[in-house]
Amino acid sequence: MGQESAQRSSGKTRPENSEGRVVLDVLRGKTVFPPPVWMMRQAGRYLPEYRETRKRAGGFLDLCYNPDFAVEVTLQPIRRFGFDASILFSDILVVPHALGRGLRFEEGRGPLMTPIRAEEIDRLDGEMFHVNLSPVYETVRRLRVQLPAGTTLIGFCGAPWTVATYMIAGHGTPDQAPARHFFYRHPEEMKRLLRQLADWSAAYLIRQMEAGADAVQIFDSWAGMLDEEGFAACCIEPVARIVSQVKAAHPDVPVIAFPKGAGSRYDGFRQATGADALGLDWTVPLSQAKRLQKEGAVQGNLDPQRLVAGGKALSDGVASILSGLGDGPLVFNLGHGITPETPVAHVEQMLAAIRGARQP
Ligand code: CP3
Repeated sequence: MGQESAQRSSGKTRPENSEGRVVLDVLRGKTVFPPPVWMMRQAGRYLPEYRETRKRAGGFLDLCYNPDFAVEVTLQPIRRFGFDASILFSDILVVPHALGRGLRFEEGRGPLMTPIRAEEIDRLDGEMFHVNLSPVYETVRRLRVQLPAGTTLIGFCGAPWTVATYMIAGHGTPDQAPARHFFYRHPEEMKRLLRQLADWSAAYLIRQMEAGADAVQIFDSWAGMLDEEGFAACCIEPVARIVSQVKAAHPDVPVIAFPKGAGSRYDGFRQATGADALGLDWTVPLSQAKRLQKEGAVQGNLDPQRLVAGGKALSDGVASILSGLGDGPLVFNLGHGITPETPVAHVEQMLAAIRGARQP
């Protein structure tokens, strides 16, 4: 790790307060080449050591709420690959769970929640919110101590819209039709639900920052399903509400927004929400990404399927991101989470290609 940071220092000094955390510098707008790298879902089923710990923990939620296990799986990809950032191991659905909504994970089916009805929107129970989430804060505190000093620790939450899609349908769906339907039938209830989720999520992120998170990411994985009015009301407005609250508390902690599938609506998203950095999914063309990068840091955007395929598909994908975006503030990442079938050797191939790259 030490050697790599020396290699990429290129004579420019870093802001003192970042303690050599390159991802943090880039999120604040600095250009570093080769770019720092991490992967969404970097702790997960593609790793044999994750599968082993997961078996010992029992259920997936036992992993999330037990700091011993959560710290262990968060550190696994850092030990193996030396990523420049570590993302807290948890799930976006612990927020509605902490508000009293039923949640379980079933093997092969993903998350299952008790579907919320319009008349229940104003009855979310936040009494025990921070108590329920205290194991997550403990995990963050321990991680900041145990991680290498140069590794940026990223906290996260789901964006209110994406969290609401699971609360409304009760499970994952291909196009979030139940939540879109709910918005059209009950627009006022939907807006009230999103506002409450935004306020609780901001409080959750602020606690993560106070426990040691250097930066935070807001995952809006289903932003791309919304029409124009829906995007403004359900994606932009609630994300902006979170950003303004966390910025009021901790103005120096960078916020990464990831409105997956936003397409042309990535343009102006940074300004509309106040996010510092944009997470780009793999469908964003390089020409658009370059434009977005003129206004601040971008993160992304290798198609996770290139990582599954390996070989030339992978090396071409890495090369085009590096040549297109390497001369501005870039955090190299995938355009969405790594999938369980990805060979570990392909992750090694990707890292070798990035770390051995020459300035474009
Ligand atoms: O990125 C990381 O390594 C941090 C951990 C993390 C997880 N989920 C762990 C997880 C993060 C940041 C998430 C976010 C999350 N969770 C999102 C938004 C990002 C995205 O991927 O779109 C969403 C929509 C969820 C909800 C969720 N959790 C689903 C739909 C599933 C099932 C999908 C699957 O891969 O099985 C989960 C489960 C989940 N969350 C797993 C992991 C490692 C797999 C659980 C297991 O071990 O069986």
